[in-house]
Amino acid sequence: MNILVTGGAGYIGSHTVHYLLQQGHQPIVLDNLSTGHRQAVPSTVPFYHGDIADSALVTSIIDRHQICGVIHFAASSLVGESMIDPAKYFENNVVKTILFLNTLLKTGVKHLVFSSTAAVYGEPRQLPIREEDLTEPTNVYGQTKLMLEQVMAQYARTYDFHYAALRYFNACGALPDGSIGEDHQPETHLIPLILQVANGRRDHITIYGQDYPTPDGTCIRDYIHVLDLAEAHLLALQYLWNGGESGPFNLGNGQGFSVQEVISLARQVTGHPLPVQIGPRRPGDPARLVAAAEKARQVLSWQPRYPDLAAMVASAWAWHRQHPDGFK
Ligand code: UFG
Repeated sequence: MNILVTGGAGYIGSHTVHYLLQQGHQPIVLDNLSTGHRQAVPSTVPFYHGDIADSALVTSIIDRHQICGVIHFAASSLVGESMIDPAKYFENNVVKTILFLNTLLKTGVKHLVFSSTAAVYGEPRQLPIREEDLTEPTNVYGQTKLMLEQVMAQYARTYDFHYAALRYFNACGALPDGSIGEDHQPETHLIPLILQVANGRRDHITIYGQDYPTPDGTCIRDYIHVLDLAEAHLLALQYLWNGGESGPFNLGNGQGFSVQEVISLARQVTGHPLPVQIGPRRPGDPARLVAAAEKARQVLSWQPRYPDLAAMVASAWAWHRQHPDGFK
């Protein structure tokens, strides 16, 4: 099937493109390369350098390639930046995605898998977090994703439009052969920052707060391999093609690891002592985020294949070791 992947040059997008190819589908990538990397997309994949809000371009891609489903990653996705520059996030994520959705309605593309986030929940009241729990985002990034989920829910009620919103917990890892991986500028995520220390690019990792109400005082997150996310996107699209009901799905392993535990595992994987410094808390960081992902397991038949955190870190390390400067 011909599947339009917006943001297919980004971290999760490029791994999904790889997975779609492996499964015999034909991805077509639309990316404005504001944060993505052209080199992350195989040269055999049709690639359009452009914007999701460009209705004429999107319409021509859909017509030319007879698109029968969309996986929509294209967005700004830095939590910290979203608090400093909310206008950028409301424009890039909300305004542009609504224009994009309206183009899809006009062209008759009915099925869309949406890249959402655990950030829609904000500070959870109970763990593990279920899809029906309260959504009270504590940052603008999460707010924009929640707003779009609400827009899509209304479109699904009103139009012949069907969506799955995949709420990722902490994406990490890379293709095991180290050919593509995570390369953000600036990098803010824990595992790539740790591996930059192992690579000699930084001299220490700062732990953002050791006074949280957790066993070792550091924040707990639910890490999920990027290839397991990739597979969930295809399963979700197939579910929609088969008449599945629109709505959100959590994607996580249901197991929490503290920042200290992640660093210890990375010491084993890399053989590097990984010096740490304890810094203040990072504003907006919830103490614990752990997913209840039973809905995705039952409804989509999704079964994470790479649940072992050491293996996730090892695959990320393969990428970082081979590409210490990322895609440059
Ligand atoms: N952390 C550190 N030091 C660092 C970087 C991170 O201690 O140098 C800690 C953070 O405080 C947090 C944990 O490591 O406790 C993970 O932080 P990340 O930045 O890797 O990931 P987040 O949990 O903050 O954010 C991720 C995604 C977001 C998404 C969010 C959903 O990157 O896009 O999960 O909760 F919104």
